[in-house]
Amino acid sequence: MEANRRTIIKGAGAAGVIGGTAAFTSACGTDDQKQGSGQESGGAGASVPADDVPVGSGTVVDETYVVTQPKAGEFHAFTSVCTHQGCQVRTVTEDKITCPCHGSQFSTTSGEVITGPATDPLQKFTVEESGGTLTIS
Ligand code: FES
Repeated sequence: MEANRRTIIKGAGAAGVIGGTAAFTSACGTDDQKQGSGQESGGAGASVPADDVPVGSGTVVDETYVVTQPKAGEFHAFTSVCTHQGCQVRTVTEDKITCPCHGSQFSTTSGEVITGPATDPLQKFTVEESGGTLTIS
């Protein structure tokens, strides 16, 4: 069950992108395989192809990070674990990361709370782009 769950999550990494139909379409192609092999996880950082993070949206990486690109070439990374009760945030628009459990919303640039019930911001991580790959640390 765990293997299946992980496979689904990896596949949903790009498919979980919300707010960009073009990005969703590309997620159905070879990008899934490229993303799967390019990611590292384990809580000490991760990498993801920059192309998997659409402009004006974002994507969840390994159920650990949410990477946003509110404007072209501007990337931000945060924990994907909601500070309210620990659900995975899922929906990313240009300016808001939304948790599906109770509706908390966070800034895509700072991780600050926009709408509760969460009161604490999402922890921010460093994200650097090199050669089309984003490295989160
Ligand atoms: Fe995210 Fe409650 S766990 S809003």
